[in-house]
Amino acid sequence: INPVEKKLIDMHELATELYSHILMNTEVGQPALDYLHERGLTDDTIKFYRLGFAPKEQILNKFLENKKVQYDDMRKSGLFIETDDGKLRDRFFDRIMFPIKNEFGNLIGFSGRVMDKNASTAKYLNSPETDIFNKRKVLFNLSDAKTTIQKQKNVILFEGFMDVISAYQSGVTNGIASMGTSLTTEQIATIKRLTPSVSVCYDGDAPGQNAINRALSLLGNTDLSLGVIQMPEGIDPDEYRKQYGEEKFASYMHSAYESPLSFKMRYFKLNRNLDNETDQISYINDVLQEVAKISDPLERDIYVNQLSDQFNLNKLDLTNRMNTYIQKNN
Ligand code: UTP
Ligand code: MN
Ligand code: MN
Ligand code: MN
Ligand code: MN
Repeated sequence: INPVEKKLIDMHELATELYSHILMNTEVGQPALDYLHERGLTDDTIKFYRLGFAPKEQILNKFLENKKVQYDDMRKSGLFIETDDGKLRDRFFDRIMFPIKNEFGNLIGFSGRVMDKNASTAKYLNSPETDIFNKRKVLFNLSDAKTTIQKQKNVILFEGFMDVISAYQSGVTNGIASMGTSLTTEQIATIKRLTPSVSVCYDGDAPGQNAINRALSLLGNTDLSLGVIQMPEGIDPDEYRKQYGEEKFASYMHSAYESPLSFKMRYFKLNRNLDNETDQISYINDVLQEVAKISDPLERDIYVNQLSDQFNLNKLDLTNRMNTYIQKNN
C-alpha cells in the first residue's frame, strides 16, 4: 500500500473506532445497540465486526479535524459529501455502521443501515468508489474467513452482511458476501484462488432465487464445483438463525445442499404452470439446455429419462432436442 492509501485506511480506522464507541458506550447509540440485540446479535459478534453507529449530528468531520487529518485527504475518503461551497458533510448519519475490510484486513469502506423500516432512503448506503474502495473487488468478511475457507476447501456465498454475521455467530466462519451486486469476474477470480468449491446461499425470496440462477451461470464458466444451500421459502439466512437458533442454522448449512441442476429444475418451474402445454414446452427446453451442459452421457441419460417419464414424452425426441443444444454449445 502506498502512502495515500495508508492515509485513507487510517482514516477509516479512526471512523470505525468513533462509530463503535458511540454504539457501545453512549446514550445516542443505545437505540442502535438495542436494535442489534433485538436482532439477536451478541456483544461478542458486534465487537468482532466492529459495528458502530453514526448519529444524526455531524461528528466525523470535527473528529478527524481534531486528529489533524487534512481536508484533501478527507475529501478523497468517501466518508463525506462535498457541498457547493466546498464544505464536507458526513455521508453517513443516523445509520448502523458495518465496516468493510479488504482481503488483507485493512478498513476501506462502510455500509450503513437505517433502523427505521419506513425510511425513504435506501436501506443500506455504501461508500462510493475511492482509491481504496472498489465495490467490484470487495467480498465482505473475506479477510476473516480466508483461513477457514482454505481449510474447509469451501466458501459459502451469502447475499447480505447480516447473513454472513449470523453465520459467524453460529460458528459457520467460511461465509462471505458481495456488496448487493451480482458477482464480478474479479470476485470470482479471488474465490478461485482460495477454494475449489462454492456453496451459494441466497435469500429464499424471488430476488434471491433469481440471484442464485445468475450466480450459478457466472460461476458455471469456471471449474469451481458448485452447490446451492436453499433457504426455506421467504426467509433469508439471518432470519433463519433468528427463528431457529444457531445450532439449527449451522446444521442447515451442512445438510441443505442441492446440486445446481436440481436447483435449476426447481427454478424453471417458478412462474410456470406445468399443466399448460406452452409452459411445459418452455420448461422442457430450459431443462434440456442445462442437461446439454453435462459432460457425462450417462448422467444426461438419467435426466432425459426423468423428463420422458414426467411428461410422458418420447425419449428419442427429447434426446434429439438435447443434441441440438449440445451442438450449439460447441
Ligand atoms: P437484502 O434486502 O436481502 O438485505 O439485500 P439483508 O442483507 O437481508 O439486510 P437486513 O437483514 O434487512 O439488514 C441484500 C444485500 O444487498 C445490499 C446489501 O449488501 C444487503 O446486505 N443492499 C440492499 C444494498 O446495498 N442497498 C440496499 O438498499 C439494500
Ligand atoms: Mn439491549
Ligand atoms: Mn435479499
Ligand atoms: Mn436478505
Ligand atoms: Mn436479512
